[in-house]
Parts: sequence; C-alpha cells; structure tokens
Amino acid sequence: MVEKVVLAYSGGLDTSVMVKWLSEHYKFEVITLTVDVGQKEDLKVIEQKAIKSGAVKHYTIDAKKEFVEKFIFPAIKANALYEGKYPLSSALSRPLIAEKLVEVAKKEGASAVAHGCTGQGNDQIRFEVTIESLAPDLKIIAPVREWRLTREEEIKYAKKHGIPLTLKTHPYSIDQNLWGRSIECGPLDNPAEEPPSEVFELTVSPEEAPNIPEYVTLTFENGIPIAINGDQLNPITLIEQLNMLAGKHGVGRIDHIEDRVIGIKSREVYECPAALCLIEAHKDLEKLVLTKHELAFKQYVDAEWAWLVYSGLWMDPLREDLDAFINRTQQRVSGDVKLKLFKGSITVVGRSSPYAIYRKHEYDQSIAYGFIKLWGLQTRDSRFTSRKD
Ligand code: ARG
Repeated sequence: MVEKVVLAYSGGLDTSVMVKWLSEHYKFEVITLTVDVGQKEDLKVIEQKAIKSGAVKHYTIDAKKEFVEKFIFPAIKANALYEGKYPLSSALSRPLIAEKLVEVAKKEGASAVAHGCTGQGNDQIRFEVTIESLAPDLKIIAPVREWRLTREEEIKYAKKHGIPLTLKTHPYSIDQNLWGRSIECGPLDNPAEEPPSEVFELTVSPEEAPNIPEYVTLTFENGIPIAINGDQLNPITLIEQLNMLAGKHGVGRIDHIEDRVIGIKSREVYECPAALCLIEAHKDLEKLVLTKHELAFKQYVDAEWAWLVYSGLWMDPLREDLDAFINRTQQRVSGDVKLKLFKGSITVVGRSSPYAIYRKHEYDQSIAYGFIKLWGLQTRDSRFTSRKD
C-alpha cells in the first residue's frame, strides 16, 4: 500500500516542486492542504495548481474565524509584540496550520506531513513542535532542508515535470494573513537601507497619506474588539476594515532587527495596520481600568507570552497558564478608545470605560505628609548610615 503525506501547500514554486519531489523521492501519494488565514489569494487557482503539480487530492480549509478567535484575540489581550515591535502575524498562524495538517493526516490515514520551510527560520520550529505535540507518530518531512536545490535547479525540475510555473517577478519572500504581512529577502537583507516602496501593499507611505487626520473609535469588551466607530462588526470584517482604514494613513509599517529562535539576527519588515492600532488601543484601555500592580505584573506576562509564541511553543502549558491570568484581568477591559491616525502615526487621544479607576479624588491633603515620611523612610535612612564613601 502506498503511504500518504499531507503537504502544507502555498501555491509557490517551492511547495509546487515539493509535490512531485515527495512522490518521486519518498514514493508518497501527496495530498495538499491550503489553510485560509486571510492571505487574500485565489484559493481556486491554488487548488488547480496543486492538482497540476501532481497532488492526488487537495484540501482548502477556511480557518479565518478560528484564527481570529483562538489566536488573534489572545494576542490582543496579551498586547503581543515580540521584542516590542512585531505583532506575531506569521507566528500566530503556524500552530493553526499545523493543527489542520494533523487533522487532514488523521482523516486521510496519512503517515507523514510535510511543509515548505527552510532550515533557517522560525516557522519550521512552530510547525514541528505543534505537530509533534499533537501527533507524535506522524513523520515530518521538510524537503527544503534535504533537497539542496538552487532556485535554478528547482525551476529546471519544475519544467521537466510539467509543474505549472508562475514565477514571481520580485526577490521577496512574503507571508500574509489577516493579522499582517511579512516581507523578507532581496534588498531588505541590507539592514542599512530603507525598504523600497515596492515592498508595501497594505499601507501607503506617510508622505502619500491624506493631509487630514482621521479619528477612529474602537470598542472593546473583555479585552476583545467589537466595534469600529460604533458599528458592531464580526471580528474578521473588523480586522479587514481596520487594515484598510489605517493602511490608508500609512499606519502599520514595521522595520526592525529581530532575534530568531535559531540564534541569527534578521532584518524584518512587516505591515500590520490593524494589529498595531488594536494593540495600542488595548494597552491604553488597560491603563485606565487595571491597577498599577496588575499593569506592572502583566507587562512581564505579556512579554513572556509573545516570546513563547514567537519561539514556537504555542503548545506549551505555560501559554495556557499565562492565558488564564490574562483572561482574568480582561474582565474589566471594556470601553472605548479614540485613535487619531495621521501620516503613519497612531495617537491615542481619548478613552472611556465603565470600569475606569480614574476619578477626581477629594481628600484632606494634609494626610500626604505622613505618607511621604514613611514612603521615603529607607531611602532617607540609607543616606545617613555609616557609609565608607
Ligand atoms: N520573521 C517572522 C517570523 O518569524 C516572519 C516569518 C515570515 N515567513 C515567511 N515565510 N516569509 O515570524
């Protein structure tokens, strides 16, 4: 009996060549899977390409709703920005795609799954840790790490086997979903140079953005966004609309030096208009409703959450432990935040909540005297103990 493999298929050159390569090299029957996480590509065309490349069967799974509810919402609640900058757009989608690979592999009785990641990035780690945690018996194949083909050799191989070639006309590696777009490679590999304008698709440059600011009010309920300017929207539409609205004002561009799990530093460029707006607004609302003690502690939890998810450990129980704490804090994170979007910048200009701790306190100001005496006790005393200097 022929063994089956389920391949995470994007429709690009690598994964198309992989369909044939897996059947030639490993004698597998290849089933392809494309998970829709909001990458805005023609999924019908991708399906046809998979079949033309030699897949015996193709699955398209729309996982946008799950992506938002199970991955993006927790990221908003955790104000998730890896190294203070990156909203984890690609990172969040990987455990979900891995979950779907395992689902299809079980349904099809496949003995292996495969993905198109290189041996240099984080995505391979995210896929494989998740797959191994869910299905330890499934074999995992990462052809790019094994086959040692140059791009030219891949193209030759594709031509030889009649694999449909729609070669990209740019040097970039792009990954896109609802939460943002990652752009790597080509001229971006030089961290000293400004990204060429051609790399951006979701955002205009601030110079080209409108000369008048736009105000946007975001409503949150228990840490989750539910409305834009008072219009209750389903979460997918909400994020899509906010991506367009903020992108139009040049909001959402990120350019930073990132520490990959695999030791190396890399120059990363992203466009995440909705993510940056939602996290900025959510963080601000938390400051209105959480105590200073909750806020101080939550910073550490948030940073740990982002680090864990970036590092491919979505399946670690610590992530759920942190979620339990975070969810408890979100019970009061409801209210409105008003943002001003203008030429690439997001400014919070107003916030309100039924749970605001902010209020005008009337108290006898003379009581401050005793507080200060005690507050400074040790600091003061330390200046007058017998010091050697
Ligand atoms: N550096 C980012 C991350 O590790 C982006 C990865 C993007 N993936 C890609 N295939 N272009 O999450």
